[in-house]
Amino acid sequence: MIHSKPTRNLALDLVRVTEAAALAAGRFMGRGDKIAADKASVDAMRLVLNEVEMDGIIVIGEGEKDEAPMLYNGERLGNGEPPQVDIAVDPIDGTRPLANGLYNSISTVALAPRGTMFNPGPFVYMDKIAVGPEARDVIDINASVEDNLNAVARAKGMDVHDLTVIILDRPRHEKLIAEVRRLGARIRLIPDGDVAAALMTAMPETGIDILFGIGGTPEGVLAACALRCLGGNMQGKIYPRNDAERQMGIEMGYQLDKVLRLEDLVSSEDTFFAATGITGGELLHGVSYTGAGATTDSIVMRGLTGTVRRISAQHRFAKLGRISAIPY
Ligand code: FBP
Repeated sequence: MIHSKPTRNLALDLVRVTEAAALAAGRFMGRGDKIAADKASVDAMRLVLNEVEMDGIIVIGEGEKDEAPMLYNGERLGNGEPPQVDIAVDPIDGTRPLANGLYNSISTVALAPRGTMFNPGPFVYMDKIAVGPEARDVIDINASVEDNLNAVARAKGMDVHDLTVIILDRPRHEKLIAEVRRLGARIRLIPDGDVAAALMTAMPETGIDILFGIGGTPEGVLAACALRCLGGNMQGKIYPRNDAERQMGIEMGYQLDKVLRLEDLVSSEDTFFAATGITGGELLHGVSYTGAGATTDSIVMRGLTGTVRRISAQHRFAKLGRISAIPY
């Protein structure tokens, strides 16, 4: 085993990125304007990402789905110095809840060595299953919901009736929800935000045991980077929205029935992940404003060490306003 001195933890740089994006987006809580919120958070995120010492390329950008302003795939960010990294961003995971003044929107970023993040190409959705460390070796996305719940319950020394399953509240999950109900597990239905939901499966204090269901592919890769740090597990399968998407994917060489293991979603353990709450939720507090500035609540993690930090920051707008290009 090689022992070396601690090396730079880029997650500590990333937290400034997600804080800036959350502070910019926080102003738009409940104001009904998703596009303006997205634009503000994207601009802030790009500005701070460009200051990070790295040679980064965006592999997981966001925005195509609803033609929102975006950090686009292939965009180069950072100051151009090593390390060479792939970047995954979701300036606002939960634009709808943010615009509607609801819970659980976060800003999030992940890094991994160049060429190690799964590129989802044209695919917007992915079927997902995610769990924490105790159940990491027992999930199988090709197995039935019943088999997965039994396996997770056994691994955690729990009864299926005591498990809490987190699922995005969507019509496409009607059958899944009915099946979980039939089996007697508890369900936490969320209106949005399956990055935070996947993380919560690996954080015992949240009481969430397993995530099932179809959500965004960018969100899947971001969650995979975090689960690498947390010691949890995730599997995914591409979920084409229609025949045209399916055909395009096949022509591009994607194997649609392939199980994307955690190692396929991000093939290195050397990942960095940061998230900051925008509106308050179960994982993170939202941005709160005072006369002097604002407070943010973040979580940062590093895959190589598995260190997870919670960072509460007080931001002073009078001082920031003198030096920062971001309009706080
Ligand atoms: P955005 O706010 O980034 O659009 O995503 C919110 C979200 O709930 C994700 O967390 C989830 O993966 C995805 O949308 C699900 O997509 P859809 O809302 O189309 O079902």
